[in-house]
Amino acid sequence: MKKIITYGSFDLFHEGHYRLLQRAKELGDYLIVGVTTEHYDHQRGKLNLVDPIMTRIQNVKDTGFADEIIVEDHEGQKIEDIQKYGIDTFVLGSDWVGKFDYLKQYCNVVYLDRTPNISSTIIRGDILKLIRLGIVGTGRIARRFCLETRYVSGVEVVSAYNPCKDELSSFATEFSINAFSDDYDKFLDSVDAVYVASPNETHADYVRRALEAGKHVLCEKPMTFTYQEAIELYALSKTKEVVLMEGIRAAYLPGFQHLLNVVSNGTIGEVCDIEACFTRIGDPKSREMSDAKYGGAFMEYGSYTLLPIFKILGTGYDDITIDSILGKDGIDVFTKVQFKYPNSLATSKTGAGVKSEGQLVIAGTKGYVLAQSPWWLIRSFDVRYEDPAIVDHHEVSFAGTDGFRYEIAEFLTKINGTGGNDYKLTADESIAMAKVVELFMNKRRSQQGW
Ligand code: CTP
Repeated sequence: MKKIITYGSFDLFHEGHYRLLQRAKELGDYLIVGVTTEHYDHQRGKLNLVDPIMTRIQNVKDTGFADEIIVEDHEGQKIEDIQKYGIDTFVLGSDWVGKFDYLKQYCNVVYLDRTPNISSTIIRGDILKLIRLGIVGTGRIARRFCLETRYVSGVEVVSAYNPCKDELSSFATEFSINAFSDDYDKFLDSVDAVYVASPNETHADYVRRALEAGKHVLCEKPMTFTYQEAIELYALSKTKEVVLMEGIRAAYLPGFQHLLNVVSNGTIGEVCDIEACFTRIGDPKSREMSDAKYGGAFMEYGSYTLLPIFKILGTGYDDITIDSILGKDGIDVFTKVQFKYPNSLATSKTGAGVKSEGQLVIAGTKGYVLAQSPWWLIRSFDVRYEDPAIVDHHEVSFAGTDGFRYEIAEFLTKINGTGGNDYKLTADESIAMAKVVELFMNKRRSQQGW
């Protein structure tokens, strides 16, 4: 029996897929089709899939060409499958010519002509509205964000807003977009959604006005400085039926999702303690190191360190203590936030003028998870046990260098209503973070006397 294998996402099943499967089947007696998991697609940087895996499998099944359907969920699986199933011929469309020649040492490799003028990407473009995105604030982070939007389909950066004209005009020229420096409402008129990356203290006001104008909002952390304001903003987004998302990048990375799954599977038993640390010695002239009111370690990195704590232990802690070491101007160069939960403890450590081991350690009754620096850009972590010889190493990479495209893809998925719910970062979790920020700010105000 001559066995053939082929792989694909088969999203929004179309004629190109049908013809590929038909011709693949004709090459042999038995056709195996590998359908990618969302997780694997995300890891390899293929974002914005519309159909869930069960739909994609069903569509392949409905063609009647596949004798067997398997799931492809990791890098290197093709070689495993070819050997496991005794494959004679590996088939893929001509868009992949040359890319799989390394498999020739295991079986025949055939590239079939792609059906012209059709692809999942084209259909996505037809059924999903292109989102016109506006950028509020045009600093370093906004630049990196804009570069990453190019890897996510369905979005186009069209405008930028910044009251500071000089900074704005070079940014607008670089990205060939419209520049608005006086009239925020006019800027809002030009877009469907905004990304707010202005100075921390201006976030909430820009967010509120954008929501009121019926625009979707993705806002850099921290979104607000008060619990009440966070509640109001999420309520407003609900009333206006638009998306509001806080941009804590780590929350949207595939590796972070995987870590949460491993912890909630019970692999390390009951979680008793979490220690999350993020330190970076910044340029003394940078905003985070020089803005005594709204800069400092906790403001800059606290959202990251609170994230695993609230995701794993929830937001219902019994007690919280915040302590900082202050540098000159009263800025916190190091802040430790300690939480007491009914049966567990947690610590968030952030440093902007202090260096420590930037790791995430989740301690349980059977073992612990260790994600090393930079765990906020997680690509791997270990699960360790009493016996130091046993280490389960998990690798879940992501495409690109700073993870922005995953956050952007999630934002679009929500806008288009093609994704699930808010589980990656819920409104409650974001509101709970605002509460900690408020406690921190209250302390800072009384220390600095304003
Ligand atoms: N394929 C094809 N003709 C097309 C589109 C896809 O022969 N017009 C083939 C691909 O070459 C691949 C298989 O169908 O062998 C599954 O491809 P997949 O990546 O799932 O489909 P695309 O439409 O290319 O998806 P996207 O636009 O998201 O890249």
